[in-house]
Amino acid sequence: MCGIVGAVAERNVVAILLAGLQRLAYRGYDSAGLAVSGEALERRRVEGKVERLAELLAERPLRGQTGIAHTRWATHGVPSKNNAHPHWSEGDIALVHNGIIENHEALRQSLSEQGYVFNSDTDTEVIVHLIHRYYQQTQDLLSAVQESLKDLEGAYALAIICRQEPERLIAARRGSPLVLGLGIDEHFIASDASALLPVTQRFIYLEEGDVVAMQRQQADIYDADGKRVEREVHTSELQADAVERGEYRHYMLKEIFEQPSALAATLEGRLQGQCIDPDLLGEGSAELLKGIKAVQIVACGTSYYAGLVASYWLESLAHIPCHVEVASEFRYREPLASPDTLFITISQSGETADTLAALEYAKTLGFDNTLSICNVAESALVRASDWALMTHAGPEIGVASTKAFTTQLLVLLLLSTVVGRLQGRLSADKETDIVQALRKLPHDCERMLEQHQAVTELAQTFADKQNALFLGRGVHYPIAKEGALKLKEISYIHAEAYPAGELKHGPLALIDADMPVVAVAPNDHLQEKLKSNLQEVQARGGQLLIFTDHKASMPSSDYVTVIEVGAVNNISSPILYTLPLQLLAYEAALIKGTDVDQPRNLAKAVTVE
Ligand code: G6P
Repeated sequence: MCGIVGAVAERNVVAILLAGLQRLAYRGYDSAGLAVSGEALERRRVEGKVERLAELLAERPLRGQTGIAHTRWATHGVPSKNNAHPHWSEGDIALVHNGIIENHEALRQSLSEQGYVFNSDTDTEVIVHLIHRYYQQTQDLLSAVQESLKDLEGAYALAIICRQEPERLIAARRGSPLVLGLGIDEHFIASDASALLPVTQRFIYLEEGDVVAMQRQQADIYDADGKRVEREVHTSELQADAVERGEYRHYMLKEIFEQPSALAATLEGRLQGQCIDPDLLGEGSAELLKGIKAVQIVACGTSYYAGLVASYWLESLAHIPCHVEVASEFRYREPLASPDTLFITISQSGETADTLAALEYAKTLGFDNTLSICNVAESALVRASDWALMTHAGPEIGVASTKAFTTQLLVLLLLSTVVGRLQGRLSADKETDIVQALRKLPHDCERMLEQHQAVTELAQTFADKQNALFLGRGVHYPIAKEGALKLKEISYIHAEAYPAGELKHGPLALIDADMPVVAVAPNDHLQEKLKSNLQEVQARGGQLLIFTDHKASMPSSDYVTVIEVGAVNNISSPILYTLPLQLLAYEAALIKGTDVDQPRNLAKAVTVE
């Protein structure tokens, strides 16, 4: 959470910092601030979004060639101007921080005793006073920062400037991402490369424990032991406009409509005629996949639901037992590890703190083969895993995940099929059927998206509703869960999903005219069972919204609205049925007037526990 941008240049960096913050706003958006160093340190901070900071800067401009900026997602201390970053100490040192300092209370007490006055409720403020204290001894910002880091427990990405050294910026990371951008006689730092795309495409992804001392013409990187190190330079192929909204009203809508191309990109290079590349995870991986006897999946949020769908596929196509768990639970219990279990983490960002911690924990438990399914190649999760299976969804900015989810499902289906084939449990004919369905998938998605207008009308149902129930069966039960999550995340309507067979064990008591029930009802072997469950809702005066394919013969009536999505292949139907549910949540949110791309209290990358 929280976005950081910093720059050292010959030109005025304020516009660069502001543009960077705007591109990072998905990381947190409850307050924002910016500071520059010159003869004095100056800063501007606001409660609220980056746009408010831009307004303030228009009224009270700042200029500077060295600066840092921040967009916040509150952890310690409410969203307020006082708690907004940059924090500073004695007007000498200013700092922005992403992460959590776990020993902040002890540090606060000791610094208070030494006379430092705290002006915020944040954990961050201890760092800036600590650096100030060391600066009194070292008179050198780099060594003051390096000394301070030794006292910190917890996670951080930091960018720091100093009044006495106005042409210098120091940045450091441990547990939170930070990327160094290389310009021509200028250097930048950011939480995410996308923030810097308008100014550079050359990046160095800092490693755990790295500290970088940046000036206009030079950036020196030191590792956790203080040794000067060289790090590889990456050239990003992303264009600056890849993270722009274009003609769409919201990022989320853009990303929903990008799914056909995101799925095509994710499929590219992975099919060989009628087969899937058996070395799906890279050279030599077929050997690994041939030998695995079980799968443990760990993830959070939408990525967790992708894992749930995968468990159906892994068990039905590959006959491999699969256990799926949310990362925040897995990391605090005592799971049983076995060396022939493949441990899979799924994450759009590759930064989610609980997922990362679960992976590290799994390694200590004896899970010897780790695979991450991820959308960000340079992320900490990918780097910490033995194997990676990348989704090629492109940058996802809307806080509610859409194209990342469907591309995760796609690679999980590829993986399940490959394991089934390699272990001799899936026939070549079945693999051919799956490959054919996958080749058609981008086109089938386009057809699904043609339901937009019908879904928009359906969304009116939610105009005066506070609750909703989603039903599905089998592999579509996790899809119903994802549909409910989308609706609650962005429209703030309370939504729950149930396996339809569980209705009569509790949720049926909730059914009345104020509780719309959304059913995911593809034409599969469970459809007749599902229809009976839906009768139970209808008999109790509930309002049913049914997504089904045209073969299902479920007529609309006064209390039943049926959206026929066209014939859908069974194997790809979980991916395809996700799309109208995303559109439903989006349109319901528009009706409710919420902030679709930046829903209250949420952030896209949850880098704190
Ligand atoms: C946050 C986001 C969700 C996302 C979850 C896991 O809660 O708002 O959209 O599903 O984190 O994120 P990850 O990047 O690990 O997939």
